[in-house]
Formats: sequence, C-alpha cells, structure tokens
Amino acid sequence: MVSARPAVQQLPAYRPGRNPADLAREIGVERAVKLASNEVAFPPLPAVVEALTAAAAETHRYPDNGAVVLTAALAQRYGVAPAQVVTGCGAVMLCQQLAQSFNDPGTSIAYAWRSFEMYPLLAQVAAARSIQVPLVPGRPGGPADTHDLEGLAAAVDDTTRVVFVCNPNNPTGTAVRRAALERFLDVVPETTLVVLDEAYREFVTDPDVPDGLELMRGRSNVAVLRTFSKAWGLAGLRVGYLVAEDPVVADAVRKTHVPFSVSSLAQAAAVAALASEEEVRRRCAAVTAERERLTGALRERGLDVSDSQANFVWLPVGEEVAGLAAALEARAVITRPFAGEGIRVTVGTPEEDDVFLAALDQVRSAGAARGR
Ligand SMILES: Cc1ncc(COP(=O)(O)O)c(C=O)c1O
Repeated sequence: MVSARPAVQQLPAYRPGRNPADLAREIGVERAVKLASNEVAFPPLPAVVEALTAAAAETHRYPDNGAVVLTAALAQRYGVAPAQVVTGCGAVMLCQQLAQSFNDPGTSIAYAWRSFEMYPLLAQVAAARSIQVPLVPGRPGGPADTHDLEGLAAAVDDTTRVVFVCNPNNPTGTAVRRAALERFLDVVPETTLVVLDEAYREFVTDPDVPDGLELMRGRSNVAVLRTFSKAWGLAGLRVGYLVAEDPVVADAVRKTHVPFSVSSLAQAAAVAALASEEEVRRRCAAVTAERERLTGALRERGLDVSDSQANFVWLPVGEEVAGLAAALEARAVITRPFAGEGIRVTVGTPEEDDVFLAALDQVRSAGAARGR
C-alpha cells in the first residue's frame, strides 16, 4: 500500500469559505448571501471581460510562462524592475513557493497567530517548523487581534528563513503602523526574508499604515505579496504577485513556479485590470465606506469590532462562533467562522450587509428570548 508523507497525512484540510451552492445542497437554503471569502461584490471590470473574450480565442496555446506583459505592467506600475516581480497562481501559490524556495526541512517560518490559515499548512508541507506568535490586544481591554511585532522579532531564530507579516491581518483586519514595522524590519536579521503579505492593501485608508513597497526600498531581505483576487476582482482567475527588493529573491521564487500555472486568461485579465485602476479605486472607496457603516452598525449592537483596514470585519465572539455561524447560515448568510475565536464577515453591498445585520438581530433576539 502506498502512503503519503507523515507531514501530509497529518495535514488538516484547507477549509475555504462555503458557497451558496453548498448551503442549497446541505440545508436547502437557496440564494444565500456569501460574505465568507473576502471577494468584492462588484462584477468583473468591463475591460477585463473584453480582454477575456479576446484571450479565449487563444486558449488552445500554453500561456506565456514568464508572464512578460503582466510582469512589465506591474513593474511599471510600482516603479521597480521586471526582475523584481514574480507572478503566481494566486498569492497563495507564491506563499507556497516561498517556503519551497527558502525552507530546507528543519528550518522555520515565523508568523503571527491567528493569521492567514495557509501559513501553517505550507510550513508543514515544506517540513519547516512553524513559529507562531500570538496576537495581542490592539487596544486596552480589547480582544487579541493585532500583531505583536516585538514578540515576532524576538521569536525569529537562526533557523528562521521566512517571516510573514500579514498587513492588514486576515482574519482580524487590524494593521500595523509605519514606526512599529520599521523598527521590526530594522532588527530582523538580513538572512531572514520578511514577506509583507498585503493581499488587502488596496482597502487601507489609514495613512499611517505603510505601503510595503515603499518600506521595502533599500532592504534586501524584504518582499511584498499582493493579489488580484480581492480589490481587482479576479478571484476566479487565480493571479497574484510578489515584488522583492532583491532580484535574487524573485529569482528563487521563480524557480519553484509550476510551469504555466498562471493561465493566459488570468494574465490578460490582470493586465486589463491594472489599466482600469481608477475604476478599481472608486470601487475600493465604496467598499471602505461600507466597511465603516457596517462597523458602526455592529458597534451600535454592542459588538466589540476592531478598526478594520481590509474588506472584512472581525467579530470576536469566542465560544459563540459555531452556533452563530450556523444560525446565520440557516438565515441564508454565509460568514467565515474560526472555532472558539471569531467570525470574519466580508464587506458586501449595502443590501447584502443589511441582510446580514437583520439575520444577526434575529439570531441574537432568539438567543435572548431563550435565555429569559
Ligand atoms: C492574507 C492573504 N494572503 C494571501 C491570500 C491568497 O490570495 P490569492 O491566492 O487568492 O491570490 C489570501 C486570500 O484569502 C489572504 O487572505
């Protein structure tokens, strides 16, 4: 009998956000509102649809393995050299490539916890040790929802090849500020690669939350990870990118690229999306305005919601998570539960968020009535 590597056998499955189709099949709820995976609610950009239509005629050919046009467009957009840019089949694949490229078995990857749930899985696959540094309260008396950068710096040891700093943090939405991040980068050894995972950068509105691409300048051990899945609306096409200060870092990541894994459709769409940046900015502004409204509405209901700099909010409801998420699903609203910790709710359209708030009110008043 064949058997997988022990590390793989022990791997918990990655649990993506559930889809309306899952709810229809499992509990017979039709037309659920999906606020589980941090996509934007807007349809694809018109220029993207046009580019996809044109690219469809070429899908009998392999894509450009080097994604030359997209890489050049990204380099131009961010004022870096193409040699500093690597594209990948979603930022998640680039995370995995980073581990493959930098972690020998027995070395380590450090990150805050809780954070993006792929970090521990990809460390385990790479036979690397995970160093997890617990989040700390972002404000006195609040829930643990913010990076402890001093703790993270102290936890880095001479086995640590990669540190992920997810900014803003998924799933809590909190962001670290410029001075703290600069202090952190100043003390991490130059032999450890710091990856600023900025999957949600486009939703940041606090001017004190630094742009990783600016912080990266002059620091050869820093790279920035971004994605077209969120603000740019291409989650279904799978394309993300890494920008590294040192082209040697980009080159190492390129070496573990699965050939042709960024499809020709994804490349064409990403180029078209970049050319529609003004429209993307308008959409992000609508999302962040709605984020503030949703945050306010939740706080009015007495919920302890931190300031999110992403396109989702975090409800630190602890032991109520499983019951609340299931009760919301029964009312056709899909959120993302993290057992025993909290529920992450993607900012939807105002109408979708009103459906969520109404469902939440119903669940809570049913709970209060039961408690009487
Ligand atoms: C923090 C973070 N990094 C990376 C990713 C990966 O994004 P994608 O693979 O869709 O580009 C996600 C997706 O949810 C994320 O939340």
